[in-house]
Amino acid sequence: MKYDLEFNPDRYRVETAETEGKRLVYRAYEDLVYVKRPSAPEYQKMNIYVPEAYWEGDSIGAYDRNTAPVFLANTVGGYMPGKPEKPGNNHLGRTNTLFQALLHGYVAVSVGARGRGLTGEDGSFIGCAPACIVDLKAAVRYLKYNRDRICGSMSHIISNGTSAGGALSALLGVTGNHPDYESFLEEAGAACAEDDIFAASCYCPITNLEHGDMAYEWEFNGYDNYQRMHGIRDEKTGERKMVPLTGIQSAEQRKMSDELKILFPAYVNGLHLKDEKGNCLKLEEDGNGSFKEYVKARVMESIQKAMEEGTDFSGFPWITVRKGKAVDVDFEQYVAYRTRMKTTPAFDEVALTTPENELFGNKTTASRHFTRFSLEHSKAGGTMAEEGQIRRMNPMNYIGDKTCDTAPYFRIRHGASDRDTSLAVSALLAAALREQGIQVDYHLPWGLPHAGDYDLPELFSWIDGICR
Ligand code: DHB
Repeated sequence: MKYDLEFNPDRYRVETAETEGKRLVYRAYEDLVYVKRPSAPEYQKMNIYVPEAYWEGDSIGAYDRNTAPVFLANTVGGYMPGKPEKPGNNHLGRTNTLFQALLHGYVAVSVGARGRGLTGEDGSFIGCAPACIVDLKAAVRYLKYNRDRICGSMSHIISNGTSAGGALSALLGVTGNHPDYESFLEEAGAACAEDDIFAASCYCPITNLEHGDMAYEWEFNGYDNYQRMHGIRDEKTGERKMVPLTGIQSAEQRKMSDELKILFPAYVNGLHLKDEKGNCLKLEEDGNGSFKEYVKARVMESIQKAMEEGTDFSGFPWITVRKGKAVDVDFEQYVAYRTRMKTTPAFDEVALTTPENELFGNKTTASRHFTRFSLEHSKAGGTMAEEGQIRRMNPMNYIGDKTCDTAPYFRIRHGASDRDTSLAVSALLAAALREQGIQVDYHLPWGLPHAGDYDLPELFSWIDGICR
């Protein structure tokens, strides 16, 4: 089947949603396949929602039908395929992000994308990298191609995502119109339009995957007890349930941790990054240095903000507070407090068992390695992903690249209790963007784990500020 990429403004339903005492009437344009030749049309589609008030001549806040920013939320988690969602309640029964975005006056778009593990009719894997980013770019092209037919300002597309979705939001923001993705967009039949966006909101981005292992060990080396939730099938009911998994790293894993940790300084130093004051961000061989101080300073900012908002830090002997100011934090004890979640290597697993191994598969191979280190240590006889496939998934490779149109605004949030990836990952992303003159609002909210969309009023006021 061939899909028409011309948006029909008359094909909508007026719907009403009510949650937590709030009522919303909106136009729903659903199941819009955004490429001409989808390999997985149930994922390569999006839903667009517009507040009905805009047709009654009303404005919401500062916005009207033409000026409303377009809030583009991806539904990717775990690098798995994601389907577009609807405004309503989330799994906790609370008003979801789409509903809140509509209520705030944005045109709310929920976009699906292919992801790891997805198979085509012939059984081949069709959701490996870079399928997910190609799909998000194709969705942006669809919106821009139809800019005169869809409500909202296509000059103000703000993407949003969490975790793998946060990584994709960052990648989408950085790589606008980059030729690296062109042949994939062409193959899928993306609309003839641009794919750069105005801003990217990224919660706990699981990004920079090929350096994630060394960054993780830079933080967690020496902390060998791990704990995480683990999905299993209940033997009696057959249902999937989450159970805690705890353990201690083996001697072999500890050795790999030592080896990976010492690779990180050379990577950081090779980026030649500077902080806002122009100081070089570097690491010594032992992992200490100005970059570590930079991350520590972000943690102190986090503590300071939480303290001003009423958090009591008296039970934290490793945080020094003087006259209401956080003046020091023992970084090692802070890492011990966060605890290790993943065993070594955290992302490119030597037994090829992680989501990322599967992300870097290809049509015929379910999972592959994407670092030389894990290829050399492979216990699964793994093969290596192509250099281009790995490159296209990492925004760090495109920051400052003049052949792309990078969004001028980024908002990065990484919970100060997150252990899914190292804080260094988001810190490097923020620093690299800032150095290119991009406005980056970066913060590590205290007490928050690996999560997203927890501060929508602040996110929306940031969006309103940059769209003014
Ligand atoms: C996600 C979490 C991870 O720890 C990871 O390695 C990849 C993706 C996620 O929640 O999307």
